[in-house]
Amino acid sequence: MIVILTGAGISRESGIATFRDAGGLWENERIEDVATPGGFARNPGKVFAFYNARRREITAGSIKPNAAHLALARLEQACGESVLVVTQNVDNLHEQAGSRSLLHMHGELLKARCTACGKVSAWEEDMDEKSLCPACGKIGKLRPHIVWFEEMPLYMDTIDEALTTCRLFVSIGTSGNVYPAAGFAARARSSGAQTLELNLEPSLNASGFHEGRYGPATQVVPAWVAEILEKR
Ligand code: APR
Repeated sequence: MIVILTGAGISRESGIATFRDAGGLWENERIEDVATPGGFARNPGKVFAFYNARRREITAGSIKPNAAHLALARLEQACGESVLVVTQNVDNLHEQAGSRSLLHMHGELLKARCTACGKVSAWEEDMDEKSLCPACGKIGKLRPHIVWFEEMPLYMDTIDEALTTCRLFVSIGTSGNVYPAAGFAARARSSGAQTLELNLEPSLNASGFHEGRYGPATQVVPAWVAEILEKR
């Protein structure tokens, strides 16, 4: 089994800003204002606006999967062993590229979560305090289905099981700033997996990988996938 962790860097060449690079999302907004439960409680309108803008970017239709997303979908279809993509990204570019074995550990921009009934529903339009839950019909109880700081990422049991049983762990386009994702390489390595980092530049935890290949994802990811498929 191959486990692949992806971060904002894999979507960068599709036109979606990362968080911590120059011009990144956290240069223009404070995390505590738009990506914490406290920020949502203090000023829900600001948080709704932040995610509405990012959702509109995706639904506008001009943002497409790039060669890196497509290569991972090709790997899943052709490599003959199971592949699990664990993404920190909340865009739907892995789905658009054809990946099916996919877990969004930080949630999804195109889903809404109801704080009254707990249901998660598909959601493509703007969301605000007047939005109505598609499952229970209550008004003003929806929030973005995004895992904020101070909240527990999703699917952690499934992810940990995969990390401790995979033969290969690959990290793509993530800076290694945010746990628990930043600890996945060490967890896989301690369970005997080979670990590989594919990134524009060495991440904060680059030294924890057996191997690193650096360059734009649209170059290093397809090259790596081609190598894996040739070895089959
Ligand atoms: N190709 C490959 N890697 C790239 C590219 C590219 N074209 N452009 C940027 N990168 C790399 C950067 O070098 C950096 O290491 O992608 C990484 C982006 O890092 P961050 O902006 O910190 O994004 P990410 O690691 O996904 O952030 C993790 O932090 O704010 C939270 O919830 C948010 O999921 C996010 C989490």
